[in-house]
Amino acid sequence: MKRRKSKKKAARKYAGKRKAKAKQIAADTAPKEESKRELKISAIGEGTVIDHIPTDATFKVVEILDLENHNGVISIATNLQSKRIGKKGIVKVGGKGLTQEEVNKIAIVAPEATVNIIKNYDVKEKIKVNVPDVIDNVVKCSNPVCITNNEQVATKFYVVKKDPLKIKCHYCERSMGKEDIEII
Ligand code: CTP
Ligand code: ZN
Repeated sequence: MKRRKSKKKAARKYAGKRKAKAKQIAADTAPKEESKRELKISAIGEGTVIDHIPTDATFKVVEILDLENHNGVISIATNLQSKRIGKKGIVKVGGKGLTQEEVNKIAIVAPEATVNIIKNYDVKEKIKVNVPDVIDNVVKCSNPVCITNNEQVATKFYVVKKDPLKIKCHYCERSMGKEDIEII
Protein backbone atom coordinates (compact mmCIF):
# COMPACT_ATOMS: atom_id res chain seq x y z
CA MET A 1 0.00 0.00 0.00
CA LYS A 2 2.72 2.35 1.05
CA ARG A 3 4.74 1.46 -2.00
CA ARG A 4 1.89 2.08 -4.34
CA LYS A 5 1.34 5.47 -2.83
CA SER A 6 4.91 6.44 -3.37
CA LYS A 7 4.75 5.11 -6.90
CA LYS A 8 1.78 7.37 -7.50
CA LYS A 9 3.68 10.26 -6.01
CA ALA A 10 6.62 9.56 -8.25
CA ALA A 11 4.32 9.38 -11.27
CA ARG A 12 2.80 12.71 -10.35
CA LYS A 13 6.23 14.22 -9.93
CA TYR A 14 7.29 12.83 -13.29
CA ALA A 15 4.16 14.23 -14.97
CA GLY A 16 4.93 17.60 -13.44
CA LYS A 17 8.47 17.45 -14.77
CA ARG A 18 7.21 16.46 -18.20
CA LYS A 19 4.82 19.40 -18.22
CA ALA A 20 7.59 21.77 -17.22
CA LYS A 21 9.81 20.38 -19.96
CA ALA A 22 7.04 20.75 -22.56
CA LYS A 23 6.57 24.35 -21.44
CA GLN A 24 10.28 24.98 -21.82
CA ILE A 25 10.30 23.49 -25.32
CA ALA A 26 7.31 25.65 -26.29
CA ALA A 27 9.07 28.74 -24.97
CA ASP A 28 12.26 27.84 -26.83
CA THR A 29 10.52 27.32 -30.15
CA ALA A 30 8.08 30.26 -29.87
CA PRO A 31 9.00 33.32 -31.89
CA LYS A 32 10.75 35.77 -29.62
CA GLU A 33 10.45 38.84 -31.82
CA GLU A 34 7.74 40.03 -34.13
CA SER A 35 10.01 39.54 -37.15
CA LYS A 36 10.23 35.82 -36.44
CA ARG A 37 6.49 35.53 -36.81
CA GLU A 38 6.62 36.85 -40.35
CA LEU A 39 6.45 34.37 -43.15
CA LYS A 40 9.08 35.07 -45.73
CA ILE A 41 8.68 33.82 -49.25
CA SER A 42 11.73 34.36 -51.43
CA ALA A 43 11.61 37.30 -53.80
CA ILE A 44 11.83 36.45 -57.48
CA GLY A 45 14.17 38.02 -60.02
CA GLU A 46 11.97 37.83 -63.10
CA GLY A 47 8.40 36.69 -63.36
CA THR A 48 4.97 37.27 -61.90
CA VAL A 49 3.57 37.46 -58.38
CA ILE A 50 -0.16 37.03 -57.97
CA ASP A 51 -1.08 38.51 -54.61
CA HIS A 52 -4.31 39.02 -52.61
CA ILE A 53 -5.89 35.79 -53.82
CA PRO A 54 -8.84 34.62 -51.66
CA THR A 55 -7.55 31.47 -49.91
CA ASP A 56 -10.11 29.20 -51.51
CA ALA A 57 -8.95 30.29 -54.97
CA THR A 58 -5.20 29.85 -54.50
CA PHE A 59 -5.05 26.43 -56.12
CA LYS A 60 -7.50 27.47 -58.82
CA VAL A 61 -4.96 30.11 -59.85
CA VAL A 62 -2.28 27.41 -59.91
CA GLU A 63 -4.54 25.37 -62.18
CA ILE A 64 -5.38 28.31 -64.47
CA LEU A 65 -1.68 29.01 -65.01
CA ASP A 66 -0.96 25.31 -65.61
CA LEU A 67 1.93 25.55 -63.16
CA GLU A 68 2.31 21.83 -62.87
CA ASN A 69 4.05 22.04 -66.21
CA HIS A 70 6.17 25.11 -65.51
CA ASN A 71 9.91 24.73 -65.09
CA GLY A 72 10.73 27.94 -63.21
CA VAL A 73 10.65 28.43 -59.45
CA ILE A 74 7.10 28.42 -58.09
CA SER A 75 6.14 29.41 -54.55
CA ILE A 76 2.59 28.88 -53.37
CA ALA A 77 1.38 30.10 -50.00
CA THR A 78 -2.14 30.20 -48.68
CA ASN A 79 -4.08 30.95 -45.47
CA LEU A 80 -1.83 33.95 -44.88
CA GLN A 81 -3.13 36.87 -42.85
CA SER A 82 -4.15 39.88 -44.90
CA LYS A 83 -5.43 43.16 -43.54
CA ARG A 84 -7.37 43.73 -46.71
CA ILE A 85 -9.08 40.44 -47.39
CA GLY A 86 -8.80 38.49 -44.12
CA LYS A 87 -6.93 35.46 -45.35
CA LYS A 88 -5.08 35.38 -48.63
CA GLY A 89 -3.02 33.29 -50.94
CA ILE A 90 0.00 34.27 -52.97
CA VAL A 91 1.55 32.59 -56.00
CA LYS A 92 5.01 33.51 -57.22
CA VAL A 93 6.06 32.26 -60.61
CA GLY A 94 9.65 32.74 -61.72
CA GLY A 95 10.33 33.22 -65.42
CA LYS A 96 6.73 33.57 -66.54
CA GLY A 97 4.71 36.49 -67.85
CA LEU A 98 0.92 36.23 -68.04
CA THR A 99 -1.22 36.55 -71.13
CA GLN A 100 -4.30 38.78 -71.02
CA GLU A 101 -6.36 35.62 -71.18
CA GLU A 102 -4.69 34.26 -68.06
CA VAL A 103 -5.21 37.56 -66.23
CA ASN A 104 -8.91 37.50 -67.17
CA LYS A 105 -9.26 33.95 -65.91
CA ILE A 106 -7.62 34.87 -62.61
CA ALA A 107 -10.10 37.74 -62.22
CA ILE A 108 -12.97 35.27 -62.29
CA VAL A 109 -11.73 33.24 -59.32
CA ALA A 110 -9.84 36.06 -57.56
CA PRO A 111 -11.47 39.44 -58.29
CA GLU A 112 -9.34 41.15 -55.62
CA ALA A 113 -6.04 39.83 -56.92
CA THR A 114 -3.06 41.97 -57.82
CA VAL A 115 -0.74 40.78 -60.56
CA ASN A 116 2.80 42.10 -60.07
CA ILE A 117 5.21 41.94 -62.96
CA ILE A 118 8.75 41.51 -61.65
CA LYS A 119 11.83 42.56 -63.63
CA ASN A 120 15.30 42.49 -62.15
CA TYR A 121 13.82 42.02 -58.64
CA ASP A 122 11.66 45.16 -58.92
CA VAL A 123 7.89 45.40 -59.26
CA LYS A 124 7.72 46.87 -62.77
CA GLU A 125 3.95 46.85 -63.05
CA LYS A 126 1.02 46.22 -60.73
CA ILE A 127 -2.15 45.12 -62.50
CA LYS A 128 -5.44 45.15 -60.64
CA VAL A 129 -7.46 42.37 -62.25
CA ASN A 130 -10.90 43.16 -63.56
CA VAL A 131 -13.88 40.86 -63.91
CA PRO A 132 -15.08 41.17 -67.52
CA ASP A 133 -18.78 41.69 -68.39
CA VAL A 134 -18.76 38.66 -70.66
CA ILE A 135 -16.78 35.49 -70.02
CA ASP A 136 -15.98 33.58 -73.18
CA ASN A 137 -14.81 29.99 -73.12
CA VAL A 138 -13.36 30.03 -69.61
CA VAL A 139 -16.03 28.59 -67.34
CA LYS A 140 -17.82 25.29 -67.72
CA CYS A 141 -21.64 25.40 -67.56
CA SER A 142 -22.92 23.42 -64.57
CA ASN A 143 -26.04 22.33 -66.43
CA PRO A 144 -25.40 18.84 -67.87
CA VAL A 145 -27.98 19.30 -70.63
CA CYS A 146 -26.60 22.67 -71.76
CA ILE A 147 -25.57 22.61 -75.42
CA THR A 148 -22.01 23.58 -74.39
CA ASN A 149 -21.70 20.27 -72.57
CA ASN A 150 -23.03 18.22 -75.46
CA GLU A 151 -21.80 19.83 -78.65
CA GLN A 152 -18.72 21.63 -79.81
CA VAL A 153 -19.94 25.03 -78.64
CA ALA A 154 -17.75 27.42 -76.66
CA THR A 155 -19.27 28.57 -73.38
CA LYS A 156 -20.37 32.14 -72.88
CA PHE A 157 -21.52 33.73 -69.65
CA TYR A 158 -22.83 37.17 -68.75
CA VAL A 159 -21.64 38.61 -65.47
CA VAL A 160 -24.76 39.50 -63.51
CA LYS A 161 -22.94 40.52 -60.34
CA LYS A 162 -19.21 40.96 -59.76
CA ASP A 163 -18.92 40.51 -56.00
CA PRO A 164 -19.85 37.89 -55.04
CA LEU A 165 -19.64 36.68 -58.59
CA LYS A 166 -22.87 35.64 -60.27
CA ILE A 167 -22.92 34.63 -63.92
CA LYS A 168 -25.58 33.45 -66.34
CA CYS A 169 -25.15 31.05 -69.25
CA HIS A 170 -25.91 32.64 -72.64
CA TYR A 171 -27.28 29.33 -73.93
CA CYS A 172 -29.32 27.71 -71.14
CA GLU A 173 -29.67 30.71 -68.82
CA ARG A 174 -28.37 28.70 -65.88
CA SER A 175 -27.28 31.02 -63.06
CA MET A 176 -24.05 30.13 -61.36
CA GLY A 177 -22.31 31.44 -58.26
CA LYS A 178 -18.70 31.41 -57.20
CA GLU A 179 -18.98 27.91 -55.73
CA ASP A 180 -20.24 26.39 -59.01
CA ILE A 181 -17.46 27.77 -61.12
CA GLU A 182 -15.22 25.29 -62.81
CA ILE A 183 -12.55 26.63 -65.12
CA ILE A 184 -12.26 24.89 -68.48
N1 CTP B 1 7.77 40.40 -54.78
C1 CTP B 1 8.56 39.29 -55.04
N2 CTP B 1 9.76 39.43 -55.66
C2 CTP B 1 10.25 40.65 -55.98
C3 CTP B 1 9.46 41.79 -55.71
C4 CTP B 1 8.21 41.63 -55.10
O1 CTP B 1 8.15 38.16 -54.77
N3 CTP B 1 11.44 40.75 -56.56
C5 CTP B 1 6.44 40.22 -54.17
C6 CTP B 1 6.29 40.80 -52.79
O2 CTP B 1 6.66 39.85 -51.82
C7 CTP B 1 4.81 41.09 -52.72
C8 CTP B 1 4.43 41.38 -54.16
O3 CTP B 1 5.48 40.87 -54.97
O4 CTP B 1 4.08 39.96 -52.28
C9 CTP B 1 4.22 42.84 -54.43
O5 CTP B 1 5.37 43.55 -54.05
P1 CTP B 1 5.27 45.03 -53.48
O6 CTP B 1 4.48 45.87 -54.41
O7 CTP B 1 6.64 45.47 -53.16
O8 CTP B 1 4.49 44.74 -52.12
P2 CTP B 1 3.25 45.52 -51.47
O9 CTP B 1 3.53 46.99 -51.46
O10 CTP B 1 2.96 44.85 -50.18
O11 CTP B 1 2.09 45.20 -52.51
P3 CTP B 1 0.53 45.63 -52.41
O12 CTP B 1 0.49 47.11 -52.24
O13 CTP B 1 -0.01 45.18 -53.75
O14 CTP B 1 -0.05 44.86 -51.28
ZN1 ZN C 1 -25.43 26.52 -70.03
